[in-house]
Amino acid sequence: METANVNRSHWSSRWAFILVTAGSAIGLGNIWKFPYMTGTNGGSAFVLVYLLCIVSIGLPLLMAETMLGRRGQGNPVAAMGAVAREAGLGRYWKIIGLIGVTGALLILSFYSVVAGWILEYTLRATSGFDGITKESAAAGFAGLLADPLRLIAWHSLFMVMTVFVVARGVTGGIEQANKIMMPALFAIVLGLIGYGMVTADMPAAIRFMFHFDVSAITREVVFSAMGHSFFTLSLGMGAIMAYGSYLDKGTSIVRTCFYVAIADTAIALLAGLAIFAIVFAKGLAPASGPGLILQTLPIAFSQMPGGSVVGPLFFLLVVFAAWTSSISLLEPFVALLIERFSFSRKRAAWATGGAVWLLGIAVALSFNEWSEVKLFGLGIFDLLDSLTTKIMMPLSGLLIAVFAGWMMQRRHVEDEIALGGKGFALWRTTLRYVSPIAIVAIFLHVIGAVG
Ligand code: TRP
Repeated sequence: METANVNRSHWSSRWAFILVTAGSAIGLGNIWKFPYMTGTNGGSAFVLVYLLCIVSIGLPLLMAETMLGRRGQGNPVAAMGAVAREAGLGRYWKIIGLIGVTGALLILSFYSVVAGWILEYTLRATSGFDGITKESAAAGFAGLLADPLRLIAWHSLFMVMTVFVVARGVTGGIEQANKIMMPALFAIVLGLIGYGMVTADMPAAIRFMFHFDVSAITREVVFSAMGHSFFTLSLGMGAIMAYGSYLDKGTSIVRTCFYVAIADTAIALLAGLAIFAIVFAKGLAPASGPGLILQTLPIAFSQMPGGSVVGPLFFLLVVFAAWTSSISLLEPFVALLIERFSFSRKRAAWATGGAVWLLGIAVALSFNEWSEVKLFGLGIFDLLDSLTTKIMMPLSGLLIAVFAGWMMQRRHVEDEIALGGKGFALWRTTLRYVSPIAIVAIFLHVIGAVG
């Protein structure tokens, strides 16, 4: 395209793109959210629907969003402007990019606070959680939430870690960080699985997640699984579009996205198995909710042989996963400041990070000092979570499906998604019909229009 900026950074290889995009996708969503949602949504029923959603909505959209980034060759707002122009459409399609870059920052503000909890637990885990009980585990978590300064300190550290990487650039920072952390993350997951097979109850975990009890699938299970398939693949928030814009023309979008989806799904399933193997071996409750890895696992770590090594390793794994994801949440807006407003990368990263940090302080305070501050009946944390994951992500995903499926010229799409014959037809049909219908259905459910 004539608007392509030849000076844009590019990932150094196809594998680098797979690694960074998997780094974005694999995060708290896989290791914290997926296991607890599986636990509270009846285990295997949730897993089954989640797998179907990844294949039928997640993967097609992942390919579409990557395609828009690469075709548009710019930050999400500029990229959408460029592809809309190419399709002979107005500038208003830039709204997709705008929802993306702002939504990503809103997500980052609370993601960083939750990542801060994990930093705290990594530290606590090094002392082995000696003598912890069910009650003291719950009190320990509640105590953390009630302590604004501690929450803010960890959140600040995590934001500095995130900004530090993004400030160093696309290949020198983001790619480099992922090249170190992602292999480490895979190694730790495999180590934990090995540990689970030897000392914990892996058969019980496998039964819980994979006996595929179709009768346990409820409407709620379907909707939670659909929403989660979006979140876990980092869809609709400009992150994938920004990363796609640094992808070489010659690289296959189909193949790379396929690997990313497989890696993301594999880590979620393996993390789930490792966690439930420990939960069942210790007779703990799988359905304990968001506190699953923070309140349940410490009890297990305190009782198991080698717990003071396995515990910190486990939480370190979660820190790495969260870190590589938050990098991808910061990058889209930073790219916008650099390209649109001529910021230096350093200034753009620190300025954006500073703004997100401030908002994150409000999130941290919403657990204690400001717990009474409510809008639409929701506290600040829940409000930001709901606004982004329940409204902005589906909306942007829908617009992406409509744009890539219906608005773009077919030959331009074929040019990017070099997937011959039946494969292309299958992808395009899914994108045009299945994804939009499914997203509208989730949306109607979320706003309460349908049960
Ligand atoms: N996918 C990440 C996770 O599972 C979170 C994440 C990173 C994200 N970038 C995103 C979610 C962009 C939505 C949009 O934890």
